[in-house]
Amino acid sequence: MNKSSDIVLEVKDLGVSFEDQEAIGKIDLSVARGEFIAILGPSGCGKSTLLNVLSGLLPPTRGTVSVEGRRMYGPESEAPHVGYVFQEHRLLPWRSVKKNLELVLAASSVSRQLWDDKINDILEILHISRYKDSWPLRLSGGERQRVSIARALLVEPSYVMMDEPFSTLDELTARTLRQELIDIWQRTGATIVFVTHSIREATFLADRIIFLTRGPANVDDSYSVPIGRPRDYEDPRIGQVEAEIVKRVLGVWELEKT
Ligand SMILES: Nc1ncnc2c1ncn2[C@@H]1O[C@H](COP(=O)(O)OP(=O)(O)OP(=O)(O)O)[C@@H](O)[C@H]1O
Ligand SMILES: [Mg+2]
Repeated sequence: MNKSSDIVLEVKDLGVSFEDQEAIGKIDLSVARGEFIAILGPSGCGKSTLLNVLSGLLPPTRGTVSVEGRRMYGPESEAPHVGYVFQEHRLLPWRSVKKNLELVLAASSVSRQLWDDKINDILEILHISRYKDSWPLRLSGGERQRVSIARALLVEPSYVMMDEPFSTLDELTARTLRQELIDIWQRTGATIVFVTHSIREATFLADRIIFLTRGPANVDDSYSVPIGRPRDYEDPRIGQVEAEIVKRVLGVWELEKT
């Protein structure tokens, strides 16, 4: 994979409040091109809120976000060119898989003659060509997530954000999709910001893990995963790193006692 040190995403002194409730305290973050970043934080700490800001959907209360050197949310800024796999699939149930993907192309600058090729290529990469004309609600959860990932990658975005995309899938399907995601990432050189509250998943996937505190989210620390690739989900080293991280976040997350 062709990695370089140029910064694709830069977040400085980010804060978000909803009315008088603070959801994000202070986040500083920079992501290099081709990097796979996992953002790890407890439920309700502000992870989805952060991704909404990074996708251009939610203006922050404080701070700046820059994508490839251009400020998002400035008076003359354009919508950022990013992919988003939402926590729920958010496919339109009354449009086929193909028609869902066409919506993304219609909002892009890709010329209409190229649409079919683009759609066929991405469906093939995600192994879902046979579902091109299917209705999203007829698909299994795993197949729907494949479609969501295809949609996010379709127009070669500056970076792809994924919000706990595998957390509702059975473990075996989740494992298959995690491995496929790594294969696609390595093949395409995409930059990925992946939100999860699974420490093992973050350790398996990421180059670097960003720890968020219990909400309102602050960046507690960043950690480079000291395991080369390819990685095996069952590798004992993944378990060791996971155990180290658990110790580290226990105090920060102040896990709720039931
Ligand atoms: N539109 C909104 N209006 C008011 N409060 C909101 C809004 N969106 C999120 N919040 C609040 O902000 C906080 C963070 O929510 P967010 O959905 O970002 O958490 P999360 O880390 O993604 O949680 P989970 O892991 O459960 O998905 C929560 O307290 C939530 O209630
Ligand atoms: Mg969330």
